[in-house]
Amino acid sequence: MSDEHKDSSHPVLAIIGKIFIFAIPASLVVMLGLVGVAFLGGSGVEVVEASAKPAPVAAAAESSAIPAAEPVVAAASPAAAGAGPNVSQMQLGKAAYATCAACHGPDGAGLKAGPMLMAPSLHGSELLLGDVDAALLIILKGIAKEGMDYMGMMASLGAGLDDEKMAAVLTYTRNSWGNSAPAITVEEAAAARAKFADVNAPAGVRRAEIQAIVDAHK
Ligand code: HEC
Repeated sequence: MSDEHKDSSHPVLAIIGKIFIFAIPASLVVMLGLVGVAFLGGSGVEVVEASAKPAPVAAAAESSAIPAAEPVVAAASPAAAGAGPNVSQMQLGKAAYATCAACHGPDGAGLKAGPMLMAPSLHGSELLLGDVDAALLIILKGIAKEGMDYMGMMASLGAGLDDEKMAAVLTYTRNSWGNSAPAITVEEAAAARAKFADVNAPAGVRRAEIQAIVDAHK
């Protein structure tokens, strides 16, 4: 190894030049990176869906299973739909609730929009916890905006939720945050979709008319 530090064949300018050639693009890359991060951060899109998504329960049971005579299938198959809410329906409902959380809030208490609420609290809501068909009608047709009580407006959500999800999201909301009401079955959701198909309420059903519409379709 020979020491050549005293060699003055490299002028200082060349060194500075090399530093610049490297340093300028490097700083550009860093700046673009920062702008990108700021842009993504500033867009403020919350990942409600990700946090609302339930962890797969069956996967844990499966991974710990020792390959033996006993099959693992039993752990993965959900119990058949009974009267009360079962775990898989509640999980599906919780995931589907991401649609509602934008207005009713992640905790069902109504999302705050300044001093106002986007939508009413679902805690103890009579329309939600009472007649199964009333709750289904609200999802299928939406509720007409008749005042300025809430910032949001609930349009028909029937197209975005199939019968299974509609039953699940209502079962979930009827059995969360202290609410307690019988589960809604896929069959009830399908029947409601069929019988309310003739209800002509493009801007949503009027609150005061919900019960009358339900009674007329019993
Ligand atoms: C875009 C906002 C918005 C979304 C999304 C939304 N809602 Fe609503 N919801 C409202 C508003 C606003 C009202 C009250 C309408 C009014 O009276 O003016 C309401 C009312 C209700 C009511 C009646 C509550 C009561 O007691 O007054 C229920 C039940 C309900 N929504 C359930 C749901 C469910 C379940 C979902 C998701 C599948 C959902 N909503 C999605 C805005 C929304």
